[in-house]
Amino acid sequence: MSYDIVRGMNDILPEEVTWWQLVEDTIRDVARRYNYREIRFPIVEHTELFTRGIGEGTEVVTKQMFTFPDQKGRSLSLRPEGTASVARAYLTHGMQTNAPFQKLIYFGPMFRYEKPQKGRQRQFHQYGIEAIGSLDPSLDVEVIAFAWTLMRDLGLTGLSLRLNSIGCAEDREPYHQALRAHFYEDISKMCANCQRRYEDNPLRILDCKEEVCQPFIETAPGPVEHLCQACAEHFEAVKGLLDQLGLEYAIDPHLVRGLDYYTRTVFELVSTDLGAQDSLLGGGRYDGLIESVGGPKTPGVGFAGGTERLILVLKEQTEAVEPERVDLFIATLGDDARGQAMRLTEELRRAGVSTEIDHRGRALRKQMTLANNVGARFLLVLGDDEVAAKKGSLKDMDSGDETPVELTPRELCDAVSQEHSGSCGPNCTCSH
Ligand code: HAM
Repeated sequence: MSYDIVRGMNDILPEEVTWWQLVEDTIRDVARRYNYREIRFPIVEHTELFTRGIGEGTEVVTKQMFTFPDQKGRSLSLRPEGTASVARAYLTHGMQTNAPFQKLIYFGPMFRYEKPQKGRQRQFHQYGIEAIGSLDPSLDVEVIAFAWTLMRDLGLTGLSLRLNSIGCAEDREPYHQALRAHFYEDISKMCANCQRRYEDNPLRILDCKEEVCQPFIETAPGPVEHLCQACAEHFEAVKGLLDQLGLEYAIDPHLVRGLDYYTRTVFELVSTDLGAQDSLLGGGRYDGLIESVGGPKTPGVGFAGGTERLILVLKEQTEAVEPERVDLFIATLGDDARGQAMRLTEELRRAGVSTEIDHRGRALRKQMTLANNVGARFLLVLGDDEVAAKKGSLKDMDSGDETPVELTPRELCDAVSQEHSGSCGPNCTCSH
């Protein structure tokens, strides 16, 4: 019996991983330039971290978490996102006293029980950054600039950044009142979820995707109309700095984002190439999150993007990435040649040259096919004559040129290295 893969989860095969490596290398390089340091944290956390951090009334917490009891009956959940975990790690390691200002980046799988479709999985991967410890609008702008630089470095176009401010905790009640006043007359015509949200958290009505609710949502007041002076000034400063840096944005007065921890700045980068799931990345400020999970009042701002979605857009817009090639394939005829090939292969690999041989006792012709399949740059054929003479002929697979070589690791490494441009390791004896 064989097993099906769990719905909404994907295997990422080697050809696909080439795209992942390209994207992750680019993100790491942007992180280096912006000085964000990588943090890794567990996939499983206590459920309460997410209910408290993300918010009890959010879709992510009420419908989408993979939650289970451990052997002692404690409720654990697979992480649906990274920000709450970063806040927890910040407190677990006493950063609030040791090093309160942190700029962190993370990568990894996240889990949400959603209906799978293009760009939406139950296990997906995020790359995210979190800048913790300052209220300064320069940090909001740095985080947005990071996102734009990443997109530019990947060469992506057709993107737009939606921006809004939802104000601080104190602004929420007057805004909720304004929303209730707006929806009061029509709430009975809206969906059941919105009717519940009307009582609990009317701001969430703006997230509703139901057709029937859209006409009422379109005319709703935006949170910006209800900002206190400090939040209004903060938003003006963010916009002013974005203008100064020439970073594009469009104000979306109804953008509120689906997680409860947001305060002030919220944003999403969307792509026309993604269809219904158009959000490439999303983020914002969360000045109350660390306090809500048991720490001191500590501001923060960040974003996270879905790696699968980023790769979908990249594939739409760029040429296929070349898979990694093997430097040298050694084909053999006979047992002596095979023994010699094994010794050479091992020495070359230790020296940093990627080298491959046949492991399935194939005929010479089939070994040539294999050399092509692994994209070998060079081919060396060893038979009894070559082993006896300790000499062979190295074929450049791109040009077809053949060069005589001594069968020593040093000479082979030298010959192949023109191509592998000095990537040999510390044990290499070649002249590079
Ligand atoms: P989020 O908007 O829930 O925010 O998710 C961020 C990104 O993750 C989305 O824009 C999307 O690209 C990707 N994503 C979300 N759900 C799925 C899914 N089911 N399948 C594929 N991709 C998905 C957060 O998670 C916040 N923690 C972001 C943040 C960081 N805010 C401040 N700091």
